[in-house]
Amino acid sequence: MTREQIAAEFQRRFEGRPRFFQAPGRVNLIGEHTDYNEGFVMPFAIDRHTIVAASPRNDLKIHVHAYDLAETAVIDLADGPRLRRGTWLDYAEGSIRSVADRFNFKPSGADMLITSSVPIGAGLSSSAAIEIAVGYATLALNDIRFDQQELAFAGQMAEHEYVGTRSGIMDQFASVFGRRGTAMLLDCRSLERTYVGVTDEQTTIAVIDTKVKHNLASSEYNTRRAECEEAVKILREHHPGIGSLRDVTAEMLSRFANFLPQNVMKRSRHIVSENKRTLAAADAFMQEDFESAGKLMYESHASLRDDYEVSCDELDFLVEVASDLTGVFGSRMTGGGFGGCTVSLLRKDSVDELRDTSVKLYATKFGFEPDFYIFESADGASEILA
Ligand code: GLA
Repeated sequence: MTREQIAAEFQRRFEGRPRFFQAPGRVNLIGEHTDYNEGFVMPFAIDRHTIVAASPRNDLKIHVHAYDLAETAVIDLADGPRLRRGTWLDYAEGSIRSVADRFNFKPSGADMLITSSVPIGAGLSSSAAIEIAVGYATLALNDIRFDQQELAFAGQMAEHEYVGTRSGIMDQFASVFGRRGTAMLLDCRSLERTYVGVTDEQTTIAVIDTKVKHNLASSEYNTRRAECEEAVKILREHHPGIGSLRDVTAEMLSRFANFLPQNVMKRSRHIVSENKRTLAAADAFMQEDFESAGKLMYESHASLRDDYEVSCDELDFLVEVASDLTGVFGSRMTGGGFGGCTVSLLRKDSVDELRDTSVKLYATKFGFEPDFYIFESADGASEILA
């Protein structure tokens, strides 16, 4: 939708002239499930956005229209918060109330129209894009000057309290701090960001959506996080200096293997090795050594499949198909897992082959076609000025 179309839709429903805000989705290149273990991730924001058109009201009501779903809701800020309805409204209400809490102000009412081009439920952070766009709009309409990092944390708070997933900070950081032309190596402990170019003239990144989302995704996510916390608890008895799996080495893990339940051992092995891979991949990308970066992506996938156990047949199949093509450097699942997308690093002249082969073989095996995307990297959230 163009800005004019969004403005026209807004005016059909509400009064006043809206301001416009955008926040992008993201693809993670490598560093999966490491964010809530104070590790390293390497996402880039994509040129698919949530856009919020918003104007203030004189009361305490938020009238919010989700254009793509053709649904309207009213949140009365005079009432207590409503948590975990299990619908899109959790993201919107969660974000408004979380920024109000985090920045300590009482928001006025507002009219909001939300529309998004981020594929939903595909592991591309459509949820963080809503949280950040709505949070940005709420802060701006109330004239609150804000630190962008705090906006990202408010988005994460919405995810924890209102949606019920104990997610890390990768998605919200990518949506806030993305930078066109680069991926962002984020140290989830120090929060230091290093922007890295990840393609050259001949190289590109393809994203393939399995179009499945197995419904254990959210409960298994919280289970994985609990397993990582259990590992830290046990390992601390032997090494009191350990604050998170970030502090654990492969040597420590093998030394204490007998003290860790098998599932906890496997989860830890993934996190420890994934942190190493992510740093090595960032180096490889900086040197435009796509062979090495791609190899690390394949290894990341194997570790997520075998040790972290968050992949699924559809994702494994697409990675397998990609690995048979010579123009593909690497491929892996991206995002939380149990469905969603793969991300592949490949030569530009192999894009057609990857698309055609994946679509054909996937459709033959699973009975429906996956979606194929080439996204451009994009800047993080902003107000859209005329
Ligand atoms: C989801 C979460 C992120 C991150 C990924 C896995 O996208 O929201 O915080 O943990 O899964 O890497």
